[in-house]
Amino acid sequence: MLEDSFGRRVDYLRLSVTDRCDLRCSYCMPEGFKGYEESENWLSFDEIERLLSVFARLGLKRIRLTGGEPLLRKNLPDLARQLAALPGIDDLSLSTNGTQLAKHAASLHKAGVTRLNVSLDSLDRARVRAICRRDALPQVLDGLEVARSEGFRLIKINMVALAGTTDEDITSMVTYCMERGFVLRLIETMPVGATGRDAGFLDLRPVRERLRERFGLVDGVIPGGGPARYLVSSDGGFQIGFITPISQHFCETCNRVRLGVDGMLHMCLGQNDCVDFRTPLRADCSDAELEDKLRAALHAIRTTYYSTAMNLTCISRQPFQT
Ligand code: GTP
Ligand code: 5AD
Ligand code: SF4
Repeated sequence: MLEDSFGRRVDYLRLSVTDRCDLRCSYCMPEGFKGYEESENWLSFDEIERLLSVFARLGLKRIRLTGGEPLLRKNLPDLARQLAALPGIDDLSLSTNGTQLAKHAASLHKAGVTRLNVSLDSLDRARVRAICRRDALPQVLDGLEVARSEGFRLIKINMVALAGTTDEDITSMVTYCMERGFVLRLIETMPVGATGRDAGFLDLRPVRERLRERFGLVDGVIPGGGPARYLVSSDGGFQIGFITPISQHFCETCNRVRLGVDGMLHMCLGQNDCVDFRTPLRADCSDAELEDKLRAALHAIRTTYYSTAMNLTCISRQPFQT
């Protein structure tokens, strides 16, 4: 089992399969961004499968496909099939902005993706256009309906709470999710990426207490390995999670690392420190060498909590691969 130097067990990998995206959310990407990774530096599906099979032997259990926007990576269901088949992996999930979901939901589900997290910051078309700088709402809602009919085990809606987000925006989203059996998560904007710092921050602690009272919610637990803390309705039919890296850090229970599209393993979402796995993968190294490198990476580098890193300026240069 992989442990870091704080005794935290790492069994969850966020795998970024591309750094490209068809949206330009204000808290994530600058409008004219051009600095994408060259395609020859992207790990191939076979390279990813090889590295993660070694990781799975060391205790990796969950893999989340992320981006940029992961559905922009060609033939993603083929990779999903390869990863779902790895011994030891019992949870394969996807975080998507939903714009291409209608097209890909069925093939992803068939390939073994069982859980979806879909970004949706508002139900107001003009507000989505303002936040994402694209008129994305109709396609995302369409994608969600297709995904719902496809029968995924769990669909979560990720709503980033920006400074201008009102109680009314949140209540409309609560109703939308309640009616469809989606889990809602409210997320505090993190200073990750070139623009995350300027996007505005809404402290979710008072919002949480208002929602608790209004909908009669109590503390609860639902499937997922990430940092959300949940409230549930008394009949268990509705769940809402709060991801609060700013107002309430969750680093002490952090169980995950992130592999970038370029093969760099990042030990923390909020820090630049990383270890190169592309070079050894392309230099014919043995599985034993990869194992040693994984263990060493966690011990040597995963030594600072995100809450400490929050004070460092370096995190603003950690863009676009969530
Ligand atoms: P599950 O709990 O397994 O459903 O996934 P998740 O909530 O971890 O994944 P998702 O991609 O939906 O991420 C939701 C939000 O949590 C995003 O804003 C992520 O950037 C954030 N997040 C996920 N893991 C971490 C982490 O380790 N550190 C920080 N600071 N944020 C994280
Ligand atoms: N702060 C908080 N959440 C963010 N996401 C992207 N950038 C940020 C940020 N700066 C969210 C997206 C998506 C998830 C994978 O990460 O909205 O739901
Ligand atoms: Fe794309 Fe997600 Fe970033 Fe928005 S937050 S620009 S959808 S990667």
